[in-house]
Amino acid sequence: MAEGQYSDIVIDHFENPRNMGEIEAADGEAQVGNPACGDVTKIFLKIRDDRIVDARFKTFGCAAAIASASMTTELIKGKSLDEALKITNEHVAKELGGLPAAKLHCSVMAEEALRTAIEDYRKKIAK
Ligand code: FES
Repeated sequence: MAEGQYSDIVIDHFENPRNMGEIEAADGEAQVGNPACGDVTKIFLKIRDDRIVDARFKTFGCAAAIASASMTTELIKGKSLDEALKITNEHVAKELGGLPAAKLHCSVMAEEALRTAIEDYRKKIAK
């Protein structure tokens, strides 16, 4: 893909983000920043019997970051925590029809937020 060129799927998820917002009293949540640009993604998870039954996000960032977070929440809904942990940013970028090379780092934030939110849940239930 040419530098700076977004796929139709990225543009669709940027213009119509899926699952944007918060979950009150989320079972797991995380906020992750991208040190390269200062953008931020928050992920909120509702978890029942070790399965993600709802996921929402808020991203203050570029189109690739918003589309990646949107796609990540779509991919993890209904998955067990272990299945969700197998989803990588490369997987998300592929589902988005690819990301320009210079924008691949933007998809890492959603993956990190997801991992951190699952850790947050596991820490909470271990207590
Ligand atoms: Fe900051 Fe894309 S430029 S996440």
